[in-house]
Order: sequence, then C-alpha cells, then structure tokens
Amino acid sequence: MDKDTRLKLAVQKSGRLTDPSIDLLTRCGLKLARGKDQLLAFGENMPLDVLFVRDDDIPDLVQEDVCDLGLVGLNVIEEKRLALAARGIVASFDSLRLLDFGRCRLSIALPQQSPWSGPASLDGKRIATTYPNLLAQYLARHGVRAQIVTLSGAVEIAPRLGRADAICDLVSTGSTLAANHLVEVETVLESHAVLIRTPVALAPVKTEWVERLLMRVDGVQQVKESKYIMLHAPRSALAQIRQLLPGSESPTIIPLEGHPDRVAVHAVCRETVFWETLESLKRAGASAVLVLPVEKMLA
Ligand code: PRP
Ligand code: ZN
Repeated sequence: MDKDTRLKLAVQKSGRLTDPSIDLLTRCGLKLARGKDQLLAFGENMPLDVLFVRDDDIPDLVQEDVCDLGLVGLNVIEEKRLALAARGIVASFDSLRLLDFGRCRLSIALPQQSPWSGPASLDGKRIATTYPNLLAQYLARHGVRAQIVTLSGAVEIAPRLGRADAICDLVSTGSTLAANHLVEVETVLESHAVLIRTPVALAPVKTEWVERLLMRVDGVQQVKESKYIMLHAPRSALAQIRQLLPGSESPTIIPLEGHPDRVAVHAVCRETVFWETLESLKRAGASAVLVLPVEKMLA
C-alpha cells in the first residue's frame, strides 16, 4: 500500500552530497523525522521518505525501482551507465534535473615531478581508480594503453604504496591531492549532482508529487542567486540603470511624491549582485539602494 502512495528518495548517507541534498529538500518544504544513524527518514508533511545509502548504490536502487528518486553525482551515474553497458544492459534511470551543487571533477593526477606531456604520457603506466569504466573510456578515446588498477577506496595513496604510477579520482577542493603530493593534469569528467527517477511508471499520486517537487526544486535553484533590488534614480538615467541590473526582467517603476524627475525602481535580479554593480548604479545616479534576499519564487 505504502509503496504506491509514498515516494522514496535515495540520498548519499555521508559525503559531499549529503548536506546539500538535505538542504535542497528542506528548502523544498520537506520536514524529515530523522533519528541519528537512521537509514530511512519519514517525511512528516509530504508523502516522501528519504533513504540514506552509499552514493554508489543509488543508480541501482533507482534503476531497480527500490527507490522512485535519487540524488546522486553525475560521476556515479556515468560510471554505472558504462558498467551496465559492458554487461549489455541499457541504463534506464531518467535524469530529471541537473542541480547546482556537488560540483567536482574526475581527474588524472600524477606524483609531483612525474613528466607529463599529454595523455600519451600514461602509455604503459598503472592507473589506480574507483572509476574503471570512465577511465577505460578516456584511455580508449586517446588511444592510450595503460593498466587500470581498480580499488574500492583510498586511491590517493596507491602511488606512494607502489601500486600505481598515476590515479584517476574525484577532485573538488584539491586538498586531498595536495596532501598526497599529487598533481592534477587532466579532467576526465566534470560532475555535479543530478536528480534521477525510476524508469517505471508511477501511481498518479506519486507522479503529482514528483511534479510538485520539481517545481519547488526549480524555484529553489532560481532564488539561490536572486536578489530583490530597490533604488531611487533620476528618470533620465533609467535606461542606463536598467542595463546595470544583472539578469532582471522589466522592473517596476514608481513615481516619487514631490520629485517629478526621480523614480523608485524595484527589480528581481537573477544573477549575483556584486559590490561593483552597486557602485556602477551609484555612479549612474542611483541612491537609497537596497538589496534584499529572495526567499521563494514561483514562476
Ligand atoms: C573524493 C575523492 C577524494 C576527495 C577529494 O571522495 O576520492 O578522497 O573526494 O576531495 P577534495 O579535492 O576536496 O580533497 P568522496 O568524498 O567523493 O567519497 P567517495 O568517492 O568514497 O564517494
Ligand atoms: Zn562513493
């Protein structure tokens, strides 16, 4: 019964995607009842429960319809897609939304001082990775013959242990590489979080909630950078001021009592508003400039 009415969404249990995933769901209005270390968190105000699992398991859980939805990195999805293809299976999870968090890249890195003159430098070398399929695809694309050493973790210490000459691993801040005296030389894949769904048709109640969730996700992603700007400006400078407002649609222009030559301008800016922008606005004649955060937005 429950399986037909409550959505189940898989999220990484502990890792780079965990906090931003929960943050996204919270901004979408979801209240989770979650005890510490609990694997399944009950959605108190939506028919949506969250399952906390290893990120590498998320594509399978969604493909096999154990979960309806998943929040996972493109790196995990693409590796799984290639692994399935190697077994003659076509991956059938659908990407619903690309998300603006979990940015990182799968890269080739070498011990400091190793010579590098392009992918050919990897010829005949041993490369340690937890992404053997993506690495194999990269090597084939560059016509490089190298030995792939598949590990299940701690890839960055493989060169020091003499198990590999290079690694292919995720990099986000680069601090893991630096701590292990490795240098990033090539990007294999740019990654970010993705919302995926099961290929299986959902019951109407669930479909309706997936659509509501998507609308909220879009709203959340839109407001992240958005600001509401209010300012006073000379009428004569309006054209210039409108051009300076980053990513704004037609602003609201309001007359100012007792000042026929000045107006108030209110606008939603969908791009980051930098101090430089405010300084330019001031130079163009704007005064009383206020920048407010936007909490929610529904197009
Ligand atoms: C990756 C990778 C490195 C680290 C790099 O692991 O294996 O250990 O992140 O990040 P940095 O550049 O910010 O130091 P991740 O946390 O994604 O875990 P997983 O690969 O085991 O899922
Ligand atoms: Zn993982």
